[in-house]
Order: sequence, then structure tokens, then C-alpha cells
Amino acid sequence: MDASAPLLLFDSGVGGLSVLAEVRAFLPDAPVIYAADNGGLPYGTKSEAEVAARVCGLLGRMSERYKPRLICIACNTASTIALGMVRDVLNVPIVGTVPAIKPAAEQTRSGVIGLLGTAATIRQPYVDRLSAEFAADKAVLRFAAGELVGAAEAKLRGEPVDPAVIARAVAGLRDQPGGADIDTVVLACTHFPLLEKELGTVFGPGVRFVDGAKGIARRIAHLTKGQPFERAREDFALFTRQDDSLAKLAPALAHYGLARVEVLQ
Ligand code: DGL
Repeated sequence: MDASAPLLLFDSGVGGLSVLAEVRAFLPDAPVIYAADNGGLPYGTKSEAEVAARVCGLLGRMSERYKPRLICIACNTASTIALGMVRDVLNVPIVGTVPAIKPAAEQTRSGVIGLLGTAATIRQPYVDRLSAEFAADKAVLRFAAGELVGAAEAKLRGEPVDPAVIARAVAGLRDQPGGADIDTVVLACTHFPLLEKELGTVFGPGVRFVDGAKGIARRIAHLTKGQPFERAREDFALFTRQDDSLAKLAPALAHYGLARVEVLQ
């Protein structure tokens, strides 16, 4: 094992940074490439075929080029659609991100769980299976809150978050039958933990949020246990399209230890 071989975290945008923060806590010495398909953002409004094609194609190119020791698809939309396909074609350990329905079912007291994800995620049979397996005796109310993806991207560019976007996401759950009893909300999109403070203010103190980031970091630590880590060069962020937003994101990326930005050639 080459000690400088990186972990590659992949998302459509900045959402996977919520996973990176947990990975840093478990594996502070691990070299990381944070890859964002900003050229394909948002994934949540795309078809299954489009998401699968982008994710398989890009991860194939990135893995050829950067030889990661492990790839983490730090995106619920991409994972719930394409995890199996990516595992079939790449000879690298792949860790995915799935909606944290199991821990939410363990925590809820009211028995009513809210789930916020992208439109593409909440319609996946994968989510039906998780609900049936782990929350069969609970109510799981789903809402497609794709607007939050843009709000999280804006926040990390240093722009204000539109309170109306947050209010619509909360109302999308609260206004459903039984929604008033929600005490646990699954943030089933990696962008959403970046807005936890804003969502918490509107949901109120009776609601707890659950996401998969810590579980993913623990899984990565387990799969790389005993491997040597040496940061031969600075960690960096890799984007698929050059545009003006990259310079605006640079301070937030630096905050996550990503000192440079590259664009995939
Ligand atoms: N961050 C991604 C997720 O976890 C999706 C954002 C998008 O729509 O591109 O689902």
C-alpha cells in the first residue's frame, strides 16, 4: 500500500464536506482528494440514468488518474442510484452514503420520522427497503427539499441563506398528516447537515437531526485499518468545471483542509 494513496470523497458539490469533517476526526493523517461534480450539479433533479452515467464515468476517470485507495460516494443521490454499478466496474473499495433511517428509528420517541432528501433520492426503492427493514412500526414522512442544495452551496460561497427556502423545507414535512409529531429528521442529502443550524431554528428544539456522516467515517476507518498514511502533498478539491464559484468556495474549502482547487482534465 502506497502511504500517499488518497481517500477520494465524491459528491455533486460541497455536500460531501459534511462527511469529510467526520473523516478528518477519525483519520487526521489520511491524504484526501475532495471531488465535486459541479458540472453536473444538481443530481437530485436528474434521471437515474443520467446520474448513473455521470458517476460511473467520472469515478472511472478519477480513479485511473489519482489511484485512490478507497472511494467514498459522499452523496445520497449518487449512492442510492449508482453504488452497485460503481462497485461492479471499479476495483477499489467503495463506501456509499445511505439515508440514516435505522438510527432515526432507534432514536424517535414519537414514532414519526421526517426525511429530507433530493427528489431523486426519496423516490428510490432503496429508501422503501430501508423503511421496511428498520422503521416498519414507525411513520416515515418524506419530502423532496432539493432547494436546500442550492442554499448550502450559497452558504459555503459566503452568501446569505434565504430563510424562505428553509421554511419551505420544514413546512413540507410539518404540513403532512402526522407532521406535527415529528421528533427526528433524517438529513438524507449530504448538503443538508451544512444547514443544520438554520433548519434547527425553524423546526424548534423538539427535533433532532440524524445523518450518516459519522457511520461512513467509521466504516472508512475500519476498511483502512492498519494502512500507512503519509500526506505527500497538500489535500485538494477537484472540480469538473471551471467557473466563478470556485474562487468564492476557496475559503470554505480551506476550512476543511483543502488548500488547492484543481479542475479535472
Ligand atoms: N449531496 C447530494 C446528496 O447527498 C445531492 C445534491 C444534488 O442534488 O446534487 O444527495
